[in-house]
Amino acid sequence: MQDRKATSIAFSNIALIKYWGNRDHALRLPSNSSLSMNIAALTTTTTVEFRSDLANDVVQIDDAQACGSAHDRVAAHLDRVRALAGITTKANVISYNNFPAGTGLASSASAFAALTVAACAAAGLQLSTDELSRLARRGSGSACRSVPAGFVLWDACAEDNCSFGRTIAAADHWDLRDVVAIVESAHKATGSTEGHWLADTSPLQAARVASTPARLERCKAALLSRDFSALAQVIEEDALMMHAVMLTSTPSLLYWRPATLAVMQAVRTWREDGMPVAFTIDAGPNVHCICPADSASRVETLLHFLAGVERVLVSRIGEGARLTS
Ligand code: DP6
Repeated sequence: MQDRKATSIAFSNIALIKYWGNRDHALRLPSNSSLSMNIAALTTTTTVEFRSDLANDVVQIDDAQACGSAHDRVAAHLDRVRALAGITTKANVISYNNFPAGTGLASSASAFAALTVAACAAAGLQLSTDELSRLARRGSGSACRSVPAGFVLWDACAEDNCSFGRTIAAADHWDLRDVVAIVESAHKATGSTEGHWLADTSPLQAARVASTPARLERCKAALLSRDFSALAQVIEEDALMMHAVMLTSTPSLLYWRPATLAVMQAVRTWREDGMPVAFTIDAGPNVHCICPADSASRVETLLHFLAGVERVLVSRIGEGARLTS
């Protein structure tokens, strides 16, 4: 094969209905459907070059050489692309996150979405958005939701070939903002991959999974009709259901810090006072405050006043992953 190179950009995403637990860990087939929106302010840009002079894949992330499990996870994903393309050539991968350094916002979603799009193009594969999303899922579950644009639904489907993200509303369907309160920048103790394995140790996981379809329908309806108060209700409920599972897993996963709870309580008070804002939290202590665009600067200002909030980042809804060269 001729040496081939491609560069892509992908946005991270924040789940409004969470993915937590797998029915098949190897294939990353999730226990339940999830729904997210892409975050325009958090991007990964990745260049993949297949080079016949390389004996091994070389992976560089934010100017540092990746080794150990971080390298192997990327190499395993490149193997999937090589298998599809019928090649064995090793690759040089250079990846940059634009996330402000040390914000605790590093995301496997944008990383594997960008890697999938760049690697497939560099390998000469021409895949549809659905196929790219499905492939990205194998690298990181939430990455399948960063391939398509805007508001994305990942349907829990029992088979590999039907498990991928698809856009249910364009990025400009509803001008929401994600105002992220960063309360801790340190790397999280237990990553999502390990967390997905622990989900089924919680007696609450079965109840969470069984009740997700109803929340998903409420969330979809709220989104499509732009009903913020219905959206606020359901996304907080869903995030708390996931954290209830985390807290009651063996071992227990407690991601919150005192400032996490302070932000959650403040958001509830602001909403009672009439401001449209709701929280959601992933596998970490930082709080994503979702609100309509015209409330974002007020939410940002109020967050700055809360003790324990280190930084605040405001983002629009992002497009899908794409090639830049
Ligand atoms: C809490 O997609 O990061 O953010 O498939 O192991 O890479 P892997 O897990 P990942 O899990 C995301 C978990 C979550 C909720 C969500 O994004 O839906």
